[in-house]
Amino acid sequence: MIDDLNEEHESLHMMVDSVLFFIQNVNGNVVGRDAIDIILKRVKEHFTLEEQVASARGAQDVAVLKKEHDRLLDELTEIRNSRELHDFAELKRRLAEFAKDLEFHNRHVDDPFFKRL
Ligand SMILES: [Fe+2]
Ligand SMILES: [Fe+2]
Repeated sequence: MIDDLNEEHESLHMMVDSVLFFIQNVNGNVVGRDAIDIILKRVKEHFTLEEQVASARGAQDVAVLKKEHDRLLDELTEIRNSRELHDFAELKRRLAEFAKDLEFHNRHVDDPFFKRL
Protein backbone atom coordinates (compact mmCIF):
# COMPACT_ATOMS: atom_id res chain seq x y z
CA MET A 1 0.00 0.00 0.00
CA ILE A 2 2.81 2.39 0.85
CA ASP A 3 4.12 1.91 -2.73
CA ASP A 4 0.77 2.99 -4.18
CA LEU A 5 0.75 6.07 -1.97
CA ASN A 6 4.32 6.90 -2.93
CA GLU A 7 3.25 6.95 -6.57
CA GLU A 8 0.20 9.01 -5.66
CA HIS A 9 2.41 11.50 -3.79
CA GLU A 10 4.77 11.78 -6.75
CA SER A 11 1.87 12.42 -9.11
CA LEU A 12 0.36 14.97 -6.70
CA HIS A 13 3.61 16.89 -6.40
CA MET A 14 4.22 16.90 -10.12
CA MET A 15 0.74 18.29 -10.67
CA VAL A 16 0.93 20.93 -7.92
CA ASP A 17 4.39 22.05 -9.05
CA SER A 18 3.26 22.30 -12.69
CA VAL A 19 0.24 24.45 -11.85
CA LEU A 20 2.33 26.60 -9.50
CA PHE A 21 4.88 27.08 -12.28
CA PHE A 22 2.05 28.19 -14.53
CA ILE A 23 0.75 30.67 -11.92
CA GLN A 24 4.26 32.03 -11.32
CA ASN A 25 4.50 32.81 -15.03
CA VAL A 26 1.14 34.39 -15.80
CA ASN A 27 0.46 38.04 -15.23
CA GLY A 28 -2.98 38.35 -13.87
CA ASN A 29 -5.40 37.11 -11.28
CA VAL A 30 -8.20 35.72 -13.41
CA VAL A 31 -6.43 32.64 -14.75
CA GLY A 32 -4.67 32.23 -11.42
CA ARG A 33 -7.93 31.70 -9.57
CA ASP A 34 -9.00 28.82 -11.84
CA ALA A 35 -5.53 27.33 -11.47
CA ILE A 36 -5.83 27.40 -7.67
CA ASP A 37 -9.22 25.68 -7.95
CA ILE A 38 -7.53 22.89 -9.90
CA ILE A 39 -4.95 22.43 -7.12
CA LEU A 40 -7.68 22.56 -4.47
CA LYS A 41 -9.68 19.84 -6.22
CA ARG A 42 -6.64 17.60 -6.68
CA VAL A 43 -5.47 18.02 -3.08
CA LYS A 44 -9.00 17.25 -1.79
CA GLU A 45 -9.06 14.04 -3.85
CA HIS A 46 -5.67 13.10 -2.43
CA PHE A 47 -6.74 13.63 1.18
CA THR A 48 -10.01 11.74 0.67
CA LEU A 49 -8.07 8.81 -0.79
CA GLU A 50 -5.69 8.74 2.17
CA GLU A 51 -8.53 8.90 4.69
CA GLN A 52 -10.33 6.04 2.90
CA VAL A 53 -7.15 3.94 2.84
CA ALA A 54 -6.50 4.66 6.54
CA SER A 55 -10.08 3.70 7.48
CA ALA A 56 -10.01 0.56 5.36
CA ARG A 57 -6.79 -0.51 7.07
CA GLY A 58 -8.30 -0.02 10.50
CA ALA A 59 -6.33 3.03 11.64
CA GLN A 60 -7.58 4.15 15.04
CA ASP A 61 -6.47 7.74 14.57
CA VAL A 62 -7.96 8.74 11.20
CA ALA A 63 -9.40 11.83 12.94
CA VAL A 64 -5.86 13.08 13.60
CA LEU A 65 -4.99 12.71 9.92
CA LYS A 66 -8.25 14.35 8.86
CA LYS A 67 -7.68 17.31 11.18
CA GLU A 68 -4.29 17.94 9.59
CA HIS A 69 -5.82 17.62 6.09
CA ASP A 70 -8.56 20.10 7.01
CA ARG A 71 -5.94 22.55 8.25
CA LEU A 72 -4.12 22.39 4.89
CA LEU A 73 -7.38 22.73 2.93
CA ASP A 74 -8.30 25.77 5.04
CA GLU A 75 -4.89 27.29 4.30
CA LEU A 76 -5.34 26.85 0.55
CA THR A 77 -8.98 27.99 0.59
CA GLU A 78 -7.95 31.12 2.45
CA ILE A 79 -5.28 31.87 -0.14
CA ARG A 80 -7.82 31.33 -2.91
CA ASN A 81 -10.35 33.66 -1.30
CA SER A 82 -7.81 36.33 -0.39
CA ARG A 83 -7.20 36.97 -4.08
CA GLU A 84 -9.59 39.90 -3.76
CA LEU A 85 -6.55 41.69 -2.36
CA HIS A 86 -5.22 41.81 -5.94
CA ASP A 87 -1.76 41.38 -4.58
CA PHE A 88 -0.40 38.89 -7.06
CA ALA A 89 3.14 38.85 -5.62
CA GLU A 90 1.78 38.02 -2.15
CA LEU A 91 -0.44 35.33 -3.65
CA LYS A 92 2.54 33.66 -5.34
CA ARG A 93 4.52 33.80 -2.09
CA ARG A 94 1.70 32.18 -0.10
CA LEU A 95 1.15 29.48 -2.70
CA ALA A 96 4.83 28.57 -2.62
CA GLU A 97 4.53 28.34 1.16
CA PHE A 98 1.49 26.08 0.85
CA ALA A 99 3.39 23.75 -1.51
CA LYS A 100 6.14 23.47 1.12
CA ASP A 101 3.59 22.76 3.88
CA LEU A 102 1.99 20.07 1.72
CA GLU A 103 5.33 18.44 1.01
CA PHE A 104 6.22 18.56 4.71
CA HIS A 105 2.88 16.92 5.56
CA ASN A 106 3.35 14.15 3.03
CA ARG A 107 6.84 13.39 4.27
CA HIS A 108 6.50 13.81 7.99
CA VAL A 109 2.84 12.93 8.65
CA ASP A 110 1.67 10.60 5.86
CA ASP A 111 4.82 8.55 5.41
CA PRO A 112 5.14 7.50 9.07
CA PHE A 113 1.35 7.16 9.41
CA PHE A 114 0.93 4.77 6.48
CA LYS A 115 4.17 2.89 7.06
CA ARG A 116 2.78 1.39 10.26
CA LEU A 117 -0.60 0.35 8.76
FE1 LIG B 1 -0.40 12.79 1.33
FE1 LIG C 1 -2.06 13.29 4.19
